[in-house]
Amino acid sequence: MKRFKIAVIPGDGIGNEVTAEGIKVLDAFAAYKGNIGFDYEFFPWGCEYYLKTGNMMEEDGLKTLEKFDAILLGAVGDPSVPDHISLHGLLIKIRQGFNQSINLRPVKLLPGAPCPLKDKKPEDIDFVVIRENVEGEYSGVGGIRFPDRPEETAIQTSVFTRKNTEKIMDYAFKLAQKRNKFNKVTNVTKSNALNYSMVFWDKIFQEVAGNYEEITTETTHVDAVSMYFIQKPEAYDVLVASNLFGDIITDLGAALQGGLGFAASGNLNIEKEYPSMFEPVHGSAPDIKDKGIANPMAMIWTAKMMLDFLLEDSDTEAIIKAITEVLVEGKTLTPDLKGNAKTSEVGDAVCEKLKSILG
Ligand code: NAD
Ligand code: IPM
Ligand code: MN
Repeated sequence: MKRFKIAVIPGDGIGNEVTAEGIKVLDAFAAYKGNIGFDYEFFPWGCEYYLKTGNMMEEDGLKTLEKFDAILLGAVGDPSVPDHISLHGLLIKIRQGFNQSINLRPVKLLPGAPCPLKDKKPEDIDFVVIRENVEGEYSGVGGIRFPDRPEETAIQTSVFTRKNTEKIMDYAFKLAQKRNKFNKVTNVTKSNALNYSMVFWDKIFQEVAGNYEEITTETTHVDAVSMYFIQKPEAYDVLVASNLFGDIITDLGAALQGGLGFAASGNLNIEKEYPSMFEPVHGSAPDIKDKGIANPMAMIWTAKMMLDFLLEDSDTEAIIKAITEVLVEGKTLTPDLKGNAKTSEVGDAVCEKLKSILG
């Protein structure tokens, strides 16, 4: 029996609601397997914790998290705390502190999910965005000069290191090999305007591409990528993007796959020196919190990604199959999918399907 220690940070808003459903599915999967189990420890970190303590997490929170095999996070953010404080105090702190340099974000339209593009079918929308996750535009380097004076000036500097840029590019190429779809990597850039950072980014892309002659490459500016996602999503296989561009295009990707209720992600420390963290792409959705109507499918898919990182087991595909069956059946869907089911009913329905698929 292999047991995994999972740190669970439900966070704010719908974070709690969806995390419970991810755990339900993890436990259903473990029960079927019989030879794995999860020991969860819950951390009440988030905006409420901040309002009580002045910190988003324990001061030595990273030390506490270090001993876990993985972290499952719901969402962070509440209107009572400025977003840059809450996010830099918890989510971004963990990503950067644990050098989770790869943000893996699949964009895949499941049968039964509502794609906003007419005529696009599940086989047309199936790609992965590799988002740089620890530096770039999110490096936190900068400051305010001459605060509150007429000359007041804000400076926010992007930082791109060769080591990290090479690493994420290399990961993207290896993933394209493994996926074996078009054997193609798209470099998302903006080197026409960003004449240091993105010119450097493109140079590293070309260098790394030289190690993968069998992989086709293309370089496209992020504005054009945004247009092509709508016009020809079927053209994509693996994309590699900087932190900010990757953030923006993956919400667009989420829309292509039926909404934020489907977008899953993993923040990977591929060296396995620190735990990796798994979280849906969506936020804390204050507009629907405490109603029990958030779509938990993104979190359930995220839990599947966590399993894939911890185990090599093709049975995890059954989780995607179970979500798909619930979608196609159309009886147990949350309001974002025009249903009237509760979050927990969707979790239960996915578990039921999973049990019958796995037998
Ligand atoms: P959001 O993702 O929370 O919500 C955008 C819209 O999508 C809302 O209408 C919301 O109701 C809907 N939505 C999101 N997830 C859903 C789900 N699972 N089911 C049904 N509908 C869903 O983005 P936002 O409104 O820009 O941000 C709200 C807060 O969350 C802010 O504080 C923001 O900083 C934070 N945020 C956190 C994360 C994270 O923790 N990973 C990600 C994005 C935003
Ligand atoms: C995401 C979110 C975060 C990001 C925010 C909340 C800091 O939008 O994970 O996509 O920009 O990385
Ligand atoms: Mn985002």
